[in-house]
Amino acid sequence: GWRTPNLYLFQRFWCQPKEIQAIISAQTHFQAQDSDVIIATIPKSGTTWLKALVFAIVNRRGFRVDSLEHPLLRANPHDLVPFLEYKVYANDENPNLSNIASPRCFASHVPYNSLPKTMIRDNSNCKIVYICRNPFDTFVSIWHFMKKIRPTYLGPFSLEEAFDMYCMGQVGYGPYWDHMLEYWEESLKSPQKVMFFKYEDLKGDVHLQVRRLAEFLGYPFSPQEEKECVVEEITKLCSFQNMKSLEVNKSGKSILNFDNKGLFRKGEVGDWVNLLSKQMVKRLSQIMQEKLDGSGLEFPNVP
Ligand code: PPS
Repeated sequence: GWRTPNLYLFQRFWCQPKEIQAIISAQTHFQAQDSDVIIATIPKSGTTWLKALVFAIVNRRGFRVDSLEHPLLRANPHDLVPFLEYKVYANDENPNLSNIASPRCFASHVPYNSLPKTMIRDNSNCKIVYICRNPFDTFVSIWHFMKKIRPTYLGPFSLEEAFDMYCMGQVGYGPYWDHMLEYWEESLKSPQKVMFFKYEDLKGDVHLQVRRLAEFLGYPFSPQEEKECVVEEITKLCSFQNMKSLEVNKSGKSILNFDNKGLFRKGEVGDWVNLLSKQMVKRLSQIMQEKLDGSGLEFPNVP
């Protein structure tokens, strides 16, 4: 027999009961600073990559990106840019964060309206960077990840059942369409506050997107840096191949009890063709069409 993951609807998104306390603690106690950077994602849509890029960009004066001592060579991106719900507030209801050197970088999987209020209120100047990924590949990535962690955390269940739940929006921090649309709309309303990325765009032209990201964060590349190919150095440092090959990412557990090596699988666009049946593709396409229609948000590479 199979068993479904332990998901509950909380503040209109699905999550596991053990995550709720930390989410509430962050909402209650987090005090945003104007120099803060928040990376927001739904799981498996490019979080690890974006964390690495943001960290390298905003810290490049202190840590030269071509240095053999760069923190990203010695620590997993999730250690350098911690999740509010899995790390910062996981074991401490109100940790002291005021001594962290600015710019502080944090991450969260919660929907926009469940972020701590001091982050999203009108007079807060902190920056929110969101990345999403086409739901076909995101589901496939979740599925492979669940297969690795399932025996310990969730018990066995089938591809069909996992897909069915995904289609109904029952996935961590989902429904995914509400998640991406909320951030999408905020990015249109407040472009100086929220920047919206797609995994596919990063894959398509990572240099362009890194320049866009740096500019948005207030750390644009100088002509001198352009001459020194700093953008290329950053993308090389944060590339899938490089990250996956680093010793520090082959061992250790930077998010709860999950093995870091599970964070680097294929890193490609379009791997869904290897897993989804014709019928599944049809169903997901219909859902996407129905949910995203009229929003202006599109994923050109999927049916
Ligand atoms: S998590 O657990 O939510 O933080 O996972 P997340 O990082 O969002 O998603 C994991 C997928 O991202 C791929 N990945 C990368 N792609 C490109 N470049 C880099 N540096 C990178 N790092 C991780 C990873 O392989 C997962 O996708 P799949 O399709 O499963 O390979």
